[in-house]
Amino acid sequence: MNKKEAVKRIEFLREELKKHNHNYYVLSKPAISDFEYDIMMNDLVFLENKFPDLKDENSPSAKVGNDSSNEFVQVDHKYPMLSLGNTYSEEDLIDFDSRVKKILTGPFSYTCELKYDGASISLVYKNGKLTRAVTRGDGDKGDDVTANVRTIRTIPHTLTGSDYPAEFEIRGEIILPHDSFDKLNNDRISAGDFAFANPRNAASGTLKLQNPAEVAKRGLDCFLYYLLGENLPTNSHFENLIAARKWGLNVAPHPERVSTIEEAIGFTKKWNEKRYDLPFDIDGIVVKVDSLDQQRVLGFTSKSPRWAISYKFKAEQAVTDLLSIDYQVGRTGAITPVANLEPVLLAGTTVKRASLHNADQISLHDIRINDRVYVEKGGEIIPKVVGVDLNSRLPGSQPVVYISNCPECGTELIRKEGEAKHFCPNEDGCPPQIKGKIEHFVSRKAMNINCAEATIDLLYQKGLIKNIADLYDLKKEQIANLERFGEKSAQNLTESIQESKKAGFERVLFALGIRFVGETVAKTLAKKLKNIDLVINASLDQLREIEEIGDKIAESVTQHFSKPGNIEIVNRLKAAGVNFQADESNDILSDKLNGLTIVISGTFSRLSRDEIKELIVKHGGKNAGSISANTDYFLTGANIGPEKLKKAQKLGIKFLTEDEFIDMIG
Ligand code: IVH
Repeated sequence: MNKKEAVKRIEFLREELKKHNHNYYVLSKPAISDFEYDIMMNDLVFLENKFPDLKDENSPSAKVGNDSSNEFVQVDHKYPMLSLGNTYSEEDLIDFDSRVKKILTGPFSYTCELKYDGASISLVYKNGKLTRAVTRGDGDKGDDVTANVRTIRTIPHTLTGSDYPAEFEIRGEIILPHDSFDKLNNDRISAGDFAFANPRNAASGTLKLQNPAEVAKRGLDCFLYYLLGENLPTNSHFENLIAARKWGLNVAPHPERVSTIEEAIGFTKKWNEKRYDLPFDIDGIVVKVDSLDQQRVLGFTSKSPRWAISYKFKAEQAVTDLLSIDYQVGRTGAITPVANLEPVLLAGTTVKRASLHNADQISLHDIRINDRVYVEKGGEIIPKVVGVDLNSRLPGSQPVVYISNCPECGTELIRKEGEAKHFCPNEDGCPPQIKGKIEHFVSRKAMNINCAEATIDLLYQKGLIKNIADLYDLKKEQIANLERFGEKSAQNLTESIQESKKAGFERVLFALGIRFVGETVAKTLAKKLKNIDLVINASLDQLREIEEIGDKIAESVTQHFSKPGNIEIVNRLKAAGVNFQADESNDILSDKLNGLTIVISGTFSRLSRDEIKELIVKHGGKNAGSISANTDYFLTGANIGPEKLKKAQKLGIKFLTEDEFIDMIG
């Protein structure tokens, strides 16, 4: 490559890498795999080394990615938060060992750790109390996410024992375990929201929420792996981790101290196999020189320490032939292209189908029928096609022409601005959308009607159900006459349908399948608006005023009920006896706050503001919007409004913390 070509290529790689950094760190929605990213980064580093005068301090190769999103207060890191050099092979680890040996004269040992796949976090403890939690950001300053981090069960607010340094920092990784990830994505898919691609994106996306109460619900966890400070207990990284564990900090049991790189390689092999048994994702192994003195001798490059290296597991990939493309239509009308593949073994299972995501992904990779394609499996998600082996492309192949009409009902597809997917707008006439809505309606978390997918299919084929309201018109005899059905099974189904009329209003609201109204949003709406008429008649502004309801949800709700067909469904369900009224029987919980007026300010870590307001009322108290001489308590969280604070101090109002409030109401 001559210099002119190198300039062009470097420019291209820098732009691409910047875009992918933004997708990964800020949007938590990466468009390419880590492996593809690393290949581009290696290309860039290679070219910059070959043409050193083209080096630039603003190049992505010289900087760590930036996760800051402008929505949090920015805080300077006391010690820069760097990244680690990546390797993928044993030879790279042996090279690392040689580099270390060239600099260190005496004997040394390594601590081997798992490389937890999440979002890095820095915690500061002063006098045993957690005072601050900050994301990596650009490495020099990050986002202050203390309120969110305080909701993580395994991060202690107060340390145990007394032999911890008066002030120190500990870094670690916030992760989302598989079971929490699955639950979160199921909820999001039900709500028509995008599913997170993997637990790492879900963890970093969650850490950046503006609502600590929502963060608390998602089940984040954290592993800590790096202590910093002036008065650490020992000169050994490994022993410091053990000390930190005694202070109540969540240091995982996995680290091992070894004395040779061969043993470290043994550790990588062991975990490459055992990683699938862990209830969370790891993406590699980290090998660190154990002695802090020796770490200081080795020092840092601009981007990473010379005393540590990460060995990344290669994402499991396979190469196979792309036979054809199907287009699936989801409940919301979203179209997903799916590749039919020549069956191939990948990470222990035979893969026949893989997601192609959307039209943009197909054209980005220029994927064509009969191509040899790379298929990758990451975490728990279905495999995806990540690229094409252009060398083995057959002559005469043509780019894929994306469908313009729905494969199921023939309606012309639409693509809304800002959405990656095409949609079939024929909500009420497109069979998979109709069946998908009924499947959602009967599902366990919605109306919990005991009706399998195949039964819905059959009832639909026979013309017995065309929408959710038709379920309540089904007669036992109609069902009993169907193939595979008898008296008993027909009886069971009709009983289960009858039983569903007792489902709480929030479940019914969720079951209606309004886009973006998942379980949580349905609960909020049911609690706030109490009955379906108030939901139907709520204006955009009324909806937006409800905490946790943003523009997107508010618009979707009003749009749903602006359609006469949807109102008719509600009326028919009402007539059938489905419950459209919130249960208020357990509204009063105690009289512990009788006669007390409480003003709240700031954000809270265990409860949302709405939950607190509701609890005040349910325990007999009054929640007032502003401080006055009549205020009994000022209940404060993080980021208190300055005006309220001044006034409360001036009037000598008693302050309450969230924990004290919770104690008070028991
Ligand atoms: S040590 C200066 N140890 O990997 C070195 N990092 O690619 C500090 N990570 O930013 C990092 N597990 O977010 C270290 N056991 C571990 C880790 C780990 C995961 C993450 C961390 C870091 C990134 C580097």
